Amino acid sequence: MGAITLRGLEPSLAEKLKRAAKKQGKSINQMVKDTLKQHLGMSKDKKFTLVHHDLDHLFGRWSEEDFKRIQRKIDSERKSQGGIKMKRVIVLGFAVLMMLTLVGPAAAQYKATMKLASALALDHPYMIGAQKFAELIKERTNGRIEVKLYPSLQLGKGEREMCEGIQQGAIDLLVTSTGPLGGFSPSINILDFPFLFRDFAHVDLVMDGPIGRKLLDDFEKADIKGLAFWENGFRHLTNAKRQVKKAEDGKGLKIRTMENKVHLAAWKSAGLNPTPMAWGEVFTALQQNVIDGQENPIAVFYSSKLWDAGQKNFSLTAHVYSPSPFLMSKKIFDAMPKEDQELFLKTGMEVAKFQRKVNRDAEENKLQDMAKAGVTVMRDVDRENFKKAMAPVYDQFSSQFPKAEIEAIMNAK
Ligand code: PAF
Repeated sequence: MGAITLRGLEPSLAEKLKRAAKKQGKSINQMVKDTLKQHLGMSKDKKFTLVHHDLDHLFGRWSEEDFKRIQRKIDSERKSQGGIKMKRVIVLGFAVLMMLTLVGPAAAQYKATMKLASALALDHPYMIGAQKFAELIKERTNGRIEVKLYPSLQLGKGEREMCEGIQQGAIDLLVTSTGPLGGFSPSINILDFPFLFRDFAHVDLVMDGPIGRKLLDDFEKADIKGLAFWENGFRHLTNAKRQVKKAEDGKGLKIRTMENKVHLAAWKSAGLNPTPMAWGEVFTALQQNVIDGQENPIAVFYSSKLWDAGQKNFSLTAHVYSPSPFLMSKKIFDAMPKEDQELFLKTGMEVAKFQRKVNRDAEENKLQDMAKAGVTVMRDVDRENFKKAMAPVYDQFSSQFPKAEIEAIMNAK
């Protein structure tokens, strides 16, 4: 048997092999050779018997199914070759062995290239965060995992479709508003109540604390892994028709809302005429005057240049905070080794802080640029008036979201 080198081996695997060899008082080469000789059962007629117990003892965390897979692979290899050569089997056996040790039982789903999607363009803070995440993952895995970016609804015509893609494992990672997420994990809708958060400090306290963690964990029931809360921002009302500073000014305006029952009810309660629509259809609907307005944070309005679709009136209503869960396909997450899972969680949280800062720091400049582009930015909005007008939604949804849960968020200090 030729020498087996560790060149090109993923570092954490090399470490594991080193530790296992040290434990046995052997060199890595010797340990692997012995393993293959003894446990792949290389008898004279070159048949293989895999002994689960011994290999498991040697490298740990192998399941019966893993061994069956190796056996099947070797068997089919043997059939197709009409008598397999010893050397080839050794190489094959060792390759499979390394692969399984590296990624654990769900090796078949392990991915070296991942797709990260969002509804927004590369210049939006979602994708600035995504870019940072991709860079950090590449750097921290020594190039082993590459995260590719798919902005601007390239992987689905709306956030609901992309979320379905995450569930199925067709998309690996997604930054999305909570718009359609109640259909996947109903508890998340608690964040959609109007005037729930005082300011960004309040937001951070809740999102990064136990309430936020619980809401992220609730996604697991829907085959989705919640990594962290990134940010869309406080949402503001815009329209093509008139200046709106209090709820009555907006009476009857036909505005697009997200496909979200709490948002829809809040706008109805304020006397406007809301209609739910996927984001991909909004620009054209505004251009063609199918709707008069929409509501979104400053960065969305700016990145999508909604003034080019006639949205000249921008009311700083800040009527609801819009968090953006950073989600991963649970199938893909579960297939990763523990070290990678921890890395993705840690990096997702770290980027959350960076991404929120990028979003917040740029808001004032964006407002000024929008004004230069001819948008009337109304800062003197009567937010108390909007708050009162939307307040009935709390009672409307009280059976699903009890007062105590809402208060735990509102009163977080
Ligand atoms: O309005 C929406 O649907 C969302 O805020 C958007 C623009 C897709 C960003 O998540």
